[in-house]
Amino acid sequence: MAKRLQRQKLCLFPFFFLAFSFITKPNKAYPLSTSSRWIVDETSQRVKLSCANWPSHLQPVVAEGLSKKPVEEIADKIVGMGFNCVRLTWPLDLATNFTLAHNVTVRQSFQSLGLYDDFVGFQTHNPSIIDLPLIDAFKTVVETLGNEGVMVVLDNHVTKPGWCCSDDDGNGFFGDRFFDPTVWISGLTNMASIFNGVSNVVGMSLRNELRGSRQNTNDWFKYMEQGAEAVHSANPNVLVILSGLHYDLDLSYIRAQPVNLSFDGKLVFELHWYAFSDGDSWATNNPNDICGKISNRVNNAGGFLLDKGYPLFLSEFGIDERGGNINDNRFFGCFLGWAAENDIDWALWVLSGSYYIREGVAGMVEFYGALDADWNDARNSSFLQRISLLQSPLQGPGPQTGDYNLIFHPLTGLCMVQSQINPTKLALGPCYESEPWSYTSENNLKIQGLPFCLQNTGTGKPVKLGISCWSPVSKWHTISASEMHLASTTSEQISLCLDVDGSNNVVIANDCKCMAEDSRCQPMSQWFKIIKATRRLKGPITTLPDLSSPEWSSL
Ligand SMILES: *[C@@H]1O[C@H](CO)[C@@H](O)[C@H](O)[C@H]1NC(C)=O
Ligand SMILES: *[C@@H]1O[C@H](CO)[C@@H](O)[C@H](O)[C@H]1NC(C)=O
Ligand SMILES: *[C@@H]1O[C@H](CO)[C@@H](O)[C@H](O)[C@H]1NC(C)=O
Ligand SMILES: *[C@@H]1O[C@H](CO)[C@@H](O)[C@H](O)[C@H]1NC(C)=O
Repeated sequence: MAKRLQRQKLCLFPFFFLAFSFITKPNKAYPLSTSSRWIVDETSQRVKLSCANWPSHLQPVVAEGLSKKPVEEIADKIVGMGFNCVRLTWPLDLATNFTLAHNVTVRQSFQSLGLYDDFVGFQTHNPSIIDLPLIDAFKTVVETLGNEGVMVVLDNHVTKPGWCCSDDDGNGFFGDRFFDPTVWISGLTNMASIFNGVSNVVGMSLRNELRGSRQNTNDWFKYMEQGAEAVHSANPNVLVILSGLHYDLDLSYIRAQPVNLSFDGKLVFELHWYAFSDGDSWATNNPNDICGKISNRVNNAGGFLLDKGYPLFLSEFGIDERGGNINDNRFFGCFLGWAAENDIDWALWVLSGSYYIREGVAGMVEFYGALDADWNDARNSSFLQRISLLQSPLQGPGPQTGDYNLIFHPLTGLCMVQSQINPTKLALGPCYESEPWSYTSENNLKIQGLPFCLQNTGTGKPVKLGISCWSPVSKWHTISASEMHLASTTSEQISLCLDVDGSNNVVIANDCKCMAEDSRCQPMSQWFKIIKATRRLKGPITTLPDLSSPEWSSL
């Protein structure tokens, strides 16, 4: 996967790839800290966390996939898929049970679970790890990621090794059967100490998805503050990352009461967002209405923290990548627009294409996995294309361009760009190839430096760049509750929305779909989001078109 993507880039864009490869080199200016809502490095440049969750908290207490591929190869695939970071999960027992950590080897752990196939695969692919104690195997994974320039966020996912989470699994909240706050703090302290001095360990998620009948905000503040202080004392380099109540869907209580810590510049909040966080609401409601409604919920639950000057790490989201789940599909279009607009730090659930054993099932396939079941290749390359814009920092401290806009199309992950065949027409292309657009106060969409405006030319027809900027056909408004349709009117006063001709990726205008009520129709081909950017994306620099070409002179 890694290699194939890079080869493609190289042959299509040789100059730019080479010229820009220095930017994509791993960032070594650790440790990280916060500067208002941005995570920054030692040189005050933004570092955007674009992570994949890599589970290591299930029963074997071994990072998944190592019976399928060598650890170096998996690290290489992570980089090749565009991630710069891993949220590596661990069970508290690994840091509090000396026998488990130091006196059980990977081999013994697999044997005790009867996982003989994995054991054989592990022996083949990672012979140097199989006889290491579990904590040393864990350290080897972190170190290998470091060698590949991949940052690591250590996530205390559960106490007892195993799949997470339910209300009554005893791992949910302070005081639960397996969640003694004192033991938790000593485990966090141990883990923070073990990785003190390991520079690619940039953050620690203190506890994943707090939940259950004991949850309350008083204890949340009390213990999260204690945990954060303990981690910071043991390892002042790491970001301390706090997860919210109700399975990390809710941080709204921070609005009224800030977290009180003795240190500055390290506090990050994390939030989770899945389609199923809202049951089957996506499938059973009008997609535009529900997108507007749930985006509001998320802004109130945690998005507001960005405005308050805290980084927000959207540390779990994901979908069934086979594409057949309508709830997931609608959610994902809306989510991508929100995540790009907010230029959020994030971690995909999940890297793993399969598990050694999950909930009693050996070899369970993970359809949310970025990798396929054999950890060979990306499960779905169109899914990776859809998240690729999120992998670039769009704003924040670092080398700036002037402000500009991208016209992002979440269904494909592409952006509106000038057609290579005819520069007055528009097509979908890689966002890094986008010209710098402006959305003006006159509601025109213009490419910066050019006198032309985007205009509709009638139903089902390609939109084009033209000079009639004053005309209603050139005035674009964001409409519907999702605010993800861009509409202008025809000379006959009919409202038309940007859309895509699926056969050739040409941007057209069509009757606006599913504006309200109807829960069955799918507007996602018409979802576009105007994204603000102040930084050049990873990839080629955009160049202005040749104004002397015949297509332009015909305008
Ligand atoms: C510690 O881990 C060992 C090995 O898995 C296990 O046998 C033991 O029960 C654990 N101890 C506690 C207190 O959980
Ligand atoms: C570790 O395991 C060995 C044998 O496998 C045993 O002799 C020793 O007592 C164990 N040590 C601890 C601390 O459990
Ligand atoms: C914050 O914590 C410090 C020491 O832990 C304490 O003295 C101070 O009163 C706290 N501030 C608030 C607003 O709770
Ligand atoms: C990838 O996802 C798309 C929908 O986003 C779906 O149509 C396609 O079948 C998926 N491909 C595979 C190999 O699962």
